[in-house]
Amino acid sequence: MGEALRVENLHVRFGTAAGQVSALNGVSFVQEEGQIYCLVGESGAGKSTLALAIMGLLPVSATVPEGRIIFDGIDLLKASQEQLRRLRGNEISLVFQDAQSALNPVQMVGPQLEEVILAHTDIAPRIANRMAQDMLSEMGLPDPKRIMGSYPFSLSGGMCQRIMLAIALVLRPRLLIADEPTSGLDVTLQAEILQRLKALCQEQHSSILLITHDMGIVANMANTVGVIYAGNLVESADVFTLFREPQHPYTASLLNTLPRLDDAGRRLQPLRGSPPDMTNLPEECPFLPRCHKALTRCRVEPRPPLDEVAPGHAVACYNPVLIQA
Ligand SMILES: Nc1ncnc2c1ncn2[C@@H]1O[C@H](COP(=O)(O)OP(=O)(O)O)[C@@H](O)[C@H]1O
Ligand SMILES: [Mg+2]
Repeated sequence: MGEALRVENLHVRFGTAAGQVSALNGVSFVQEEGQIYCLVGESGAGKSTLALAIMGLLPVSATVPEGRIIFDGIDLLKASQEQLRRLRGNEISLVFQDAQSALNPVQMVGPQLEEVILAHTDIAPRIANRMAQDMLSEMGLPDPKRIMGSYPFSLSGGMCQRIMLAIALVLRPRLLIADEPTSGLDVTLQAEILQRLKALCQEQHSSILLITHDMGIVANMANTVGVIYAGNLVESADVFTLFREPQHPYTASLLNTLPRLDDAGRRLQPLRGSPPDMTNLPEECPFLPRCHKALTRCRVEPRPPLDEVAPGHAVACYNPVLIQA
């Protein structure tokens, strides 16, 4: 099995009137082909910045002082606009939260989907029309013919999300980046759409980089998980290890926000405190002010590195949660 994506020591900053925002501060991870890698963390942690960096869609106010993003043997940060244009929509595609604003409200759905196919392939228009319809029904849209002739503004948010996913997947990309693709939808609808997404990607052998703040979604979807805090990965592991043996106090508190079947009466613990100011990050561990396990060492030493504690399990913490045998 090969690598779908490799991110190495990625730093991204935004220049703003309030100063430099250090959105990503040395993120590294490898996603294996065919896998769902979930990147999870609170709002403001840098998740969307990572998605945009991979797609080559960072705004002009952003700088990338360091890092590499390797896809198919090339560093996307060094790729030409022409190379990126060919990869986008074809080999890598992106779908994000606000589908209704990503679709053109005054162009019918059918032509929007067909356009993607026609722009990237030599497929004949008649066949593109067929592919578009098939893709819509695979995403669970009833009466795809009618949807093809509808305008996005006349459809529900859930339908628009399915259409966005259909657009993102119609060319069978090798990597789909899905940035909170179902937030804003009700839980039942989310689950249904995500199950379809998972099944379709398995069938197409596509890899998914799934971005979410919801540990419940991680549990249902991920093969591998990276937990991001203040622009850094603080823990990564396969999904079973992460849920059974979380070692970073932040991961443990994210899991505490989840209801558990075996402990239904227990009160959920909300995460205390708030994330740090990204314009003024400390030298030491950025989780320190919220951590209940902090040692003197955590206050005086620089941010702990992400170290492997077992094969495939890495943690950035000087005082990890001990595994209960
Ligand atoms: N275009 C931008 N200009 C300035 N700051 C930004 C911009 N985009 C994001 N940020 C800041 O970068 C940090 C990470 O944001 P983002 O990647 O959107 O986080 P997430 O997707 O995890 O919620 C936040 O502090 C956010 O305010
Ligand atoms: Mg985001």
